[in-house]
Amino acid sequence: MKNKLSQLRDEFLRQLTEVKDEITLRELELKYLSRKGELGVLLRSLKDLSVDSRQAAGTMANEIKQELQDKFQEALKLFSARQTKNIPIDVTLPGAKMAFGHLHPITLIQNELEDLFTSLGFMILDGPELESDYYNFTALNVPASHPARDMQDTFYIDKKNKDGEYDLLLRTQTSPMQIRAMQKYGAPLKLIVPGRCFRNEATDARHEHTFYQMEGLVVAKDINFANLKSFLEIVGQKLFGPATKLRMRPKFFPFVEPGNNGEYTCFLCQGKGCRVCKNTGWLEIVGAGLVHPSVLEAGGLDPEVYSGLAFGFGLTRLAMLKYGINDVRFFQSGDLKFLEQF
Ligand code: PHE
Repeated sequence: MKNKLSQLRDEFLRQLTEVKDEITLRELELKYLSRKGELGVLLRSLKDLSVDSRQAAGTMANEIKQELQDKFQEALKLFSARQTKNIPIDVTLPGAKMAFGHLHPITLIQNELEDLFTSLGFMILDGPELESDYYNFTALNVPASHPARDMQDTFYIDKKNKDGEYDLLLRTQTSPMQIRAMQKYGAPLKLIVPGRCFRNEATDARHEHTFYQMEGLVVAKDINFANLKSFLEIVGQKLFGPATKLRMRPKFFPFVEPGNNGEYTCFLCQGKGCRVCKNTGWLEIVGAGLVHPSVLEAGGLDPEVYSGLAFGFGLTRLAMLKYGINDVRFFQSGDLKFLEQF
């Protein structure tokens, strides 16, 4: 019995030296010192001994019990003290890092342009991505049978209207908001419309079914081509720096007359010719023109009284140029390796 008791004592003390926290200390207490613990079992077995040996073993057992309980209490004090006041807190240690999100590259460009245009007194409008055939095409001077419809194929919604026609589609451009805005606010009017557009494209590094544009519209009395040119110059200088030059070349868009493509001197080579501008020195950035009289009419305005200018940027294209992104499909890929670079 005495042997067993001293073995138990040694084992307890050895394990006590290995205890590292309060939880393992409590486990040790449970294993040895609780009522059903090993010491308890030994104490209860004392009654089976002869009277003589019971007395000697009993004294020893009580001494050991006291000793182990003292040691346990001592250790317990140590751990709980550490937990409350004595833990030295090192305030210079780095904290747990929080994962921050950040803005998408297209949003960054959009914000930059919104800041510019609000500073020029433009309002910012949102518009429906699911548009009617009327607003996306017909009201913009592209009647149903017009070949200009071929320039922008899109996704039609598989639902007929009450006349048995498929007239809902994903908008191919932000231009339908020109009509909606004129109808709602009348003239004079200065607005931009950033937003998502869609086209039925065979996707590759330069074509994507989903992309972002920003439309601009100014309607008032006596708006002319010089106004358009000066707005586009301001935009180019904001986007690509004060030395940026603009050139305007004729281009057909059904809803403007005359229509043109605004090109800026390449921001990378300053017009000398490089990889980005395909050695031309110029970057095609913006479609623009004076608002076609039929479009003003569709917007409920009298073209004899009012005139307007309109322009449209590809925000996606701007982001590709600005950040040197060579594949348009990255924008929607959700690929963190791409996104975390911005
Ligand atoms: N909506 C035209 C496009 O998507 C761009 C544009 C806007 C052209 C406004 C002229 C005026 O190609």
